[in-house]
Amino acid sequence: MLILINLFLLLGTVAIHAMTNNLKENIATKGKAVQSSTYYLKADAAIDDIDFYCTHTKTETNPWWRLDMMDLQIIEKVIITNRMDCCFEQINGAEIRIGMSLENNGNNNSKCAEISGISARQSVSYSCGGMQGRYVNVVIPGDSKNLSLCEVEVFINGTS
Ligand SMILES: *[C@@H]1O[C@H](CO)[C@@H](O)[C@H](O)[C@H]1NC(C)=O
Ligand SMILES: *[C@@H]1O[C@H](CO)[C@@H](O)[C@H](O)[C@H]1NC(C)=O
Repeated sequence: MLILINLFLLLGTVAIHAMTNNLKENIATKGKAVQSSTYYLKADAAIDDIDFYCTHTKTETNPWWRLDMMDLQIIEKVIITNRMDCCFEQINGAEIRIGMSLENNGNNNSKCAEISGISARQSVSYSCGGMQGRYVNVVIPGDSKNLSLCEVEVFINGTS
């Protein structure tokens, strides 16, 4: 009897965990990431689930990072985690773009948000209100910009 109760408790916990995951699932880790250029860490450092490793493009005009989610997704929010050391203000002015098009490397898709600033090591959540797309881009418009992202998380509503 005791064993049965324990088994029930265990299964119950697993089921609740799975349910919560489905409601708010970060699908970015299942996608593929690329970026306009690489100064040191590659584009997938932003989807490795480890804040410590951050992507970094070379200094260039309109540096961008793009996530390919392989399929159309309805996106509720995107969470960006900024770098913790120097230069956290480099992210200022970056845009989050979502859509199906690869025109201009995906940077011409609809804008979900413009990042006014994120403190060092902080994460900010941007609500995209159900925007649809296969690609999520982060691009900084302008000359002599560096794009560095420690984590990009993409949340959809429910499973898909
Ligand atoms: C992307 O959008 C910009 C600004 O609206 C426009 O000037 C440019 O021609 C577009 N790029 C492409 C490849 O269509
Ligand atoms: C980009 O990085 C270079 C090299 O580290 C630095 O000299 C420059 O000031 C940075 N640019 C911006 C806009 O932060």
